[in-house]
Amino acid sequence: MTAARTLFVTATDTGAGKTLASCALLHALRAQGHRACGFKPVAAGGMETPEGLRNEDALALQEAGGTREPYELINPCLLREPAAPHLAANLEGRRIRMADLDVAHRELASRYEMVVAEGAGGWQVPLDEVWTLGSWVAEREWPVILVVGMRLGCLNHALLSVESITRRAKLAGWIANVLPPQMPLLEGNIETLRKRIAAPLLGVIPAHADAASAAQALDADLLRRICQPPPPPVELDVEE
Ligand SMILES: Nc1ncnc2c1ncn2[C@@H]1O[C@H](COP(=O)(O)OP(=O)(O)OP(=O)(O)O)[C@@H](O)[C@H]1O
Ligand SMILES: [Mg+2]
Repeated sequence: MTAARTLFVTATDTGAGKTLASCALLHALRAQGHRACGFKPVAAGGMETPEGLRNEDALALQEAGGTREPYELINPCLLREPAAPHLAANLEGRRIRMADLDVAHRELASRYEMVVAEGAGGWQVPLDEVWTLGSWVAEREWPVILVVGMRLGCLNHALLSVESITRRAKLAGWIANVLPPQMPLLEGNIETLRKRIAAPLLGVIPAHADAASAAQALDADLLRRICQPPPPPVELDVEE
């Protein structure tokens, strides 16, 4: 067990703003003086670069963390096809090995105070016949941050996600990401979620924000609280 804290960033859907929010969290954590590193355990969708196959999200996280960690640590499982990870792995005749993800995470967690792990797709994305990304995260007991891509349908997606996440993991907070074109009744939608999600709203990322300005939209005090290590378990005095 390492002292580092890992925040896991999931979302209501693919394209909802996980990478933007994760990069914003890295900026905000670094501004608070933390040594923080991005992590993209599983990425589906690779592009050829002079350095080899790379995933855009992992590169963005690497840059936002300002670290020089080897790419393979930031993104231990990279699949070429931009598809559901277990299907993209099947195409390559591979399986996603949870042990590979754990080895890379352990290495990062030994060197950084904070690790910001971006998911793939949403909470229930399958990794193989047994594991979902959510079940793997739940076993690691990482606090989860849900990014809600604010568009029509997001109330249903957000509330389903919250129900599923809180069944197995701790939802530390949620972020409203305002996707363009702005949905009708945005404020009413945010307020509806605020009333129905027990976890706090960490911030509203405005449309067209970059990672640095999105970081400014996050509640610094709340983030500080989320980063605190959990209190040690209470030892009960059991009388003989
Ligand atoms: N607040 C915003 N304003 C404008 N564009 C945004 C905003 N948030 C995200 N986008 C754009 O929407 C797209 C999806 O965002 P992002 O990559 O952060 O989502 P994601 O959840 O990480 O997606 P994936 O499931 O592919 O990892 C990107 O092109 C991004 O630039
Ligand atoms: Mg992403």
